[in-house]
Amino acid sequence: MNISQNYSLQASNSFNVNSTSPKVYFPSSVKELYQLVNVINPPFYILGEGSNTLFVESQAPVIVKPDIQGISVVEFSEHYEVTVGAGENWHQLVCFCLERQINGLENLALIPGSVGAAPVQNIGAYGVEFSDFCVKVEYFDFASATLQCLTAEQCQFSYRESIFKKSLQNRVIITHVTLSFSKKWQANLSYAGLDCLAKTSTAQEVMQQVIQLRQAKLPDPKLLPNAGSFFKNPVVSQAEFSRLIKAYPTLPNYPQSNGLVKLAAGWLIEQAGLKGFIHKAVGVHDKQALVLVNYNNGQGSDIVGLAKFVQQQVQDKFAIEITPEVRMISSQGEVSFSSLVDTLQLSEENHG
Ligand code: EPU
Repeated sequence: MNISQNYSLQASNSFNVNSTSPKVYFPSSVKELYQLVNVINPPFYILGEGSNTLFVESQAPVIVKPDIQGISVVEFSEHYEVTVGAGENWHQLVCFCLERQINGLENLALIPGSVGAAPVQNIGAYGVEFSDFCVKVEYFDFASATLQCLTAEQCQFSYRESIFKKSLQNRVIITHVTLSFSKKWQANLSYAGLDCLAKTSTAQEVMQQVIQLRQAKLPDPKLLPNAGSFFKNPVVSQAEFSRLIKAYPTLPNYPQSNGLVKLAAGWLIEQAGLKGFIHKAVGVHDKQALVLVNYNNGQGSDIVGLAKFVQQQVQDKFAIEITPEVRMISSQGEVSFSSLVDTLQLSEENHG
């Protein structure tokens, strides 16, 4: 197995912040995961392509960066099942499937990151989520040194959530996912921006439209470092929603099947006057306020300070708490956003 010492993670996270790990392990097979059991102790962090991770300090913990490759397809009479190694790139998988007329993932085109990261936060975009296709997820459990498998139901998927962010957080490494695609494909054009397409559109046409929409609003991390949506969209009770819609009749809202209502964090941030806000090296993107960007070599603490400021401004204006979707990693492993100290103190600077 490849192992690196004193490894700079700057090129391994899409925020492009500088942080050094004492040791990075690169297991490329399940066999190599077994070898890790006796040599690695917590805290460590499992890193995919680093597109949803913020290293908040100049020192990072020990890192495991799995690189299990491979895609296999099994054809059934009514559907295809596709099993994919966790280290494969998500967008490459979308292209691989569509090239073979295995349709369904087109709405999830261009989402940065690895296949292994997709179930962790149940990636979603344009009316579709990873969980819509998931059959099972295989993972390696460090505590028992065994391979385990969960059905989609056992993964406890919900909006940007799964068991891998709850009871299994940082305890297991996803090795493979299996997805199912019906041969009776129908375009999902429900989301604003796709409803302009003809019902007869092909999956390739839907993918091209999704790519255009994303490129128009979301900055390319290679050109302007960022981690996509920094915050989750808040999900509130009916009572809270009624209070807000009275005060803000244009509030975008998405009623959920469980009676709760999802709001658009980007809208809340924009209404708080922060779209395009810049503080020193970092800022709020000027086309999509849900995205924080690193303009000029800002460090993890700069992003944390900005995020605390954004969170506080939304809290002050709407009495709604928005929480990060991005995961915070210190030298001691994963930490909660609320435990981090706001070193920028932007709120005080602006208000007093
Ligand atoms: N909006 C604003 N101002 C903004 C941003 C959004 O007013 O600066 C409004 C929009 O006009 C719209 C609503 O908020 O009425 C929702 O905006 P949008 O459709 O752009 O989606 P989003 O809720 O901001 C979510 C995902 C994105 C995904 C898009 C499209 C989350 C946290 N984010 O964003 O996912 O691409 O929907 O489906 O759920 C990601 O996770 O990194 C990501 C980019």
